[in-house]
Amino acid sequence: MPTKIEKDVFSGRDTTGHEWDGLKELNTPLPKWWVYTFAATVVWGAAFCVLYPSVPSLRGHFDGVFGYSTRESVTADVKALEAQRAKVLERVNATPIEQVRKDPQLMAVATTAGRIAFANNCQPCHGASGEGRPGYPTLASDSWIWGGKLADIQQTITFGVRNAHPDARASVMPKFGADGILKPDEVGAVADYVMTLYGKAQPGPATAKGAAIFAENCVACHGEKGEGKREVGGPSLKSAVHLYGDTRDAVIAQVTNPRQGVMPNWNTRLDAGTIKSLALYVHALGGGE
Ligand code: HEC
Ligand code: HEC
Repeated sequence: MPTKIEKDVFSGRDTTGHEWDGLKELNTPLPKWWVYTFAATVVWGAAFCVLYPSVPSLRGHFDGVFGYSTRESVTADVKALEAQRAKVLERVNATPIEQVRKDPQLMAVATTAGRIAFANNCQPCHGASGEGRPGYPTLASDSWIWGGKLADIQQTITFGVRNAHPDARASVMPKFGADGILKPDEVGAVADYVMTLYGKAQPGPATAKGAAIFAENCVACHGEKGEGKREVGGPSLKSAVHLYGDTRDAVIAQVTNPRQGVMPNWNTRLDAGTIKSLALYVHALGGGE
């Protein structure tokens, strides 16, 4: 159909040339401000694509002329925050640990830093509130394997237990059963005796034999009456808090083939101020001496 553009007599505008049953369509252009705004957004969009990370590709995306990256700006923010924290932690670090405990302001900083570091590093093994779990001692009770004074705790955290660090706390319970030092019935007897120490079993006819085996093989690390020996990390066997459980099977398993749990050294992973804060935090969990 041929189109015929003509002037509309009433509005004075051009028609588009379209006509339906005698009705003609007026050509009403978009307002100028709209057209310019639209053009501006196109220019803006194109410029943005050139300057900033934009077009995706198979191996990532076009980086943009400015090379801007949100990851880098987050990293910078984190660095700034760390520097700010380091300054405060430096004061904790420079103050003797006993004195930090007496200074409410420093103690507040140390407790916060300790709580965060604990959640990030210690919780998986020791539990969210230091309640412990089988093989991982509770840190919230006054039953300590290596000692509950601030200095003891700080030392344990710094160098750990039975890891490769030369200053790690080390002591290895012999494999009495697995290495044949004790026969199975002797292991059973000593287990019966150990269970009387924490009141889970009554002394019976076999306990005397177990007591004799204990006196000969176990007191060096666990003490005359099973009260524990911190110098050699022998846990108390009288305590209601157990590292591996209080059943006869658990005791037999330990005497047969000790687990020898490993606690990492943190001196290569955390700075001294953070370790000090952790010691103060752990000390305050409920069992500090
Ligand atoms: C991979 C698991 C693991 C992680 C992570 C871990 N620990 Fe331990 N921790 C242990 C084990 C296992 C022992 C017990 C070692 C033993 O048998 O003497 C222990 C012992 C301790 C003790 C000594 C308890 C006592 O009764 O004397 C303290 C204190 C301690 N951990 C604090 C921490 C702190 C603080 C952190 C975090 C910075 C941490 N641990 C992270 C496994 C872990
Ligand atoms: C050389 C030191 C040493 C000697 C000797 C030793 N132990 Fe141990 N014992 C330890 C240490 C260290 C642990 C800590 C557990 C671990 O991670 O293996 C332990 C843990 C235990 C536990 C687990 C305690 C808990 O809380 O669950 C029992 C039970 C135990 N010993 C019984 C004995 C008996 C019985 C003997 C003697 C037949 C004995 N031990 C001899 C060092 C010793």
